[in-house]
Amino acid sequence: MVTEEDLGAWLAEHQSVVVFTGAGISTESGIPDFRSPGGVWTKYDPRELTFQRYVASADVRARSWKMRREFFAAGAKPNPAHEAVARWERDGRSPGVITQNIDGLHAAAGSRSVARLHGTAAEVMCVGAAPVGGQPVGCGWREDTRWAFDAIDAGTADPMCPSCGGLIKSATVSFGQMMFPEPIELAEQMIEEADAMLVIGSSLSVYPAAGFPEIAAARGMGLGIINAEPTPLDHLADVVVHGRAGEILAGR
Ligand code: APR
Repeated sequence: MVTEEDLGAWLAEHQSVVVFTGAGISTESGIPDFRSPGGVWTKYDPRELTFQRYVASADVRARSWKMRREFFAAGAKPNPAHEAVARWERDGRSPGVITQNIDGLHAAAGSRSVARLHGTAAEVMCVGAAPVGGQPVGCGWREDTRWAFDAIDAGTADPMCPSCGGLIKSATVSFGQMMFPEPIELAEQMIEEADAMLVIGSSLSVYPAAGFPEIAAARGMGLGIINAEPTPLDHLADVVVHGRAGEILAGR
């Protein structure tokens, strides 16, 4: 079993560590992850909330807004793991973080270079009247997510884009939806700059996101994993530490 001292040595032997995070880095900030007991997908069925079903059904949109509000990270604060990631970037030891998370806690901790592979729950966006093929093709309208919550509270069960009348959706990437190109380009750029990748708090079970640690390993970069439980990519890692990220990374 690898100890936390090994993690310290591993971090010290690399010049530039790009970080890759999942929902597990935010559970110590009070935000449930997806697949642990009590996680989001133990209360909602992700197959019900695909992009295609969202576009087709006002009922699915209503359920999606209810879930969004229930898990909205309002008031959640970064924990020592987010703070360590931001510190490494400030100290020039990391090009930044590639995250699957939509909670905004990396930016709140001071991270500047954040590739948000799955978008952000802080905003809503127009996805157009009838997007096809999982590609949101809206008019460009975007607002703070609270705009949608306020519209629903004011009695509009299925709020539409005030600019073009199209559908609006959380600015996140749902199952069945194409990922946005910009964060992918930023992630690829950060991997180019790094000589190692540290995964923190992900089950590494969702692609294409989980492909990034595989790319790092295939390029011969160092790979470290901090996770509460084993992941399918542990065999590719130089160091694997099973535990709570906030405790393991506090002060590092
Ligand atoms: N410290 C370390 N690891 C933790 C902690 C913690 N405090 N809390 C939970 N974990 C681990 C869990 O054991 C789990 O393996 O974090 C992992 C979280 O896995 P998931 O819940 O699957 O979340 P994630 O990997 O981010 O999911 C990827 O799936 O549904 C989609 O879009 C969603 O971005 C999400 C993607």
